Amino acid sequence: MADFCKIAEFSLTGGPFNPHVIINNAAANVIGSLVFGKRFDYDDIDFQNLLQLSQESILLAGTPLAQMYDIFPWLFKCLPGPHNIIFSNYARLIFFLRKEIEKHKRDWDPFNHRDFIDTYIAEIDKRKNDIEAGFNSENLAFCTLDLFEAGTETVTNTLRFALLYMMKYSEVQEKVQDEIERVIGLSRPPCMTDKINMPYTEAVIHETLRVANLIPLNISRMASKDTTVGGYFIPQGTVLNTNLSSVLNDKTEWEKPDMFYPQHFLNEHGHFFKRQAFFPFSAGKRMCLGEQLAHMELFLFFTSLLQRFTISPAPGEQPILEPQGSAILSPKPFKICVTSR
Ligand code: HEM
Repeated sequence: MADFCKIAEFSLTGGPFNPHVIINNAAANVIGSLVFGKRFDYDDIDFQNLLQLSQESILLAGTPLAQMYDIFPWLFKCLPGPHNIIFSNYARLIFFLRKEIEKHKRDWDPFNHRDFIDTYIAEIDKRKNDIEAGFNSENLAFCTLDLFEAGTETVTNTLRFALLYMMKYSEVQEKVQDEIERVIGLSRPPCMTDKINMPYTEAVIHETLRVANLIPLNISRMASKDTTVGGYFIPQGTVLNTNLSSVLNDKTEWEKPDMFYPQHFLNEHGHFFKRQAFFPFSAGKRMCLGEQLAHMELFLFFTSLLQRFTISPAPGEQPILEPQGSAILSPKPFKICVTSR
């Protein structure tokens, strides 16, 4: 709710503002509640730094020089370049997380697990004689970082893309708002049970995930043993990238792959249906473990925002849909105006 109060302040002034920090804070606090068992205040300097370090590292990781480091680490190790900033940012992030983990260890209660960190500490305790299991404080710090980063930037940037598309296609925004009014009304907050009655909104969120194409070449993985896929031999140690973008834009799968077209997810009766080629979360054993959480967050944030506000571009500006980045895509910075409904 604090998030919407902040936006409401802007609606009173009417002036354009960049919604990035507010959305980022809100998304970070959802995963933060699960991992650390608490929300962080929007004015908490340590928390703001943490978010900025994470954002900067993701943007830098997409630069050509950082990608060269990934290919020739032995060569670039001694050279200046963005990889050094990325390493120093992650060192600071891990330092912050270790402090949180130490705090958790101090007041850990075996009968009351408050969050992910507590539950992991219990696992370390249970398996202290089984070194091979890999449950240790070092792994806890890196798993916490993985969850926090993967769960924050993805949802933030999808919501930012959703705002851009709503500004660009105001008729779609109106249709979502009509559905919100019909199903939820304007007085009570949306809840997950509303989703089933809101096929158009669901279609808009899915289409946003498709066109946003956040991780076009997926996360790099490494073959842990020799294997054969589709007749191709892949030796152990090969780095693999699956091209999610090719599926999300496949001309044989989508009627209008290059357009924002929520009807991709609606049948002739206006009912929502999931498409086989919808793979923004990847597939298989290593697919995104946060998909369900992401869907919940996107639905609740998106409907809550459009229930309370109408979003429009800053005067004289057009929404820029072209993304920035390469490994992970995000919208370029933009401003919005909000009007209370
Ligand atoms: C719009 C939202 C999201 C998108 C598009 C997305 C997409 C992805 C993709 C494509 C992968 C790589 C899968 C693979 O390698 O095949 C991934 C991995 C992962 N995601 Fe997400 N994700 C989203 C939200 C979340 C959230 C909210 C969480 C929080 C729990 C999360 C946690 C993770 C983790 C921990 C991994 C690594 C899994 C592993 O290595 O086994 N993601 N995600």
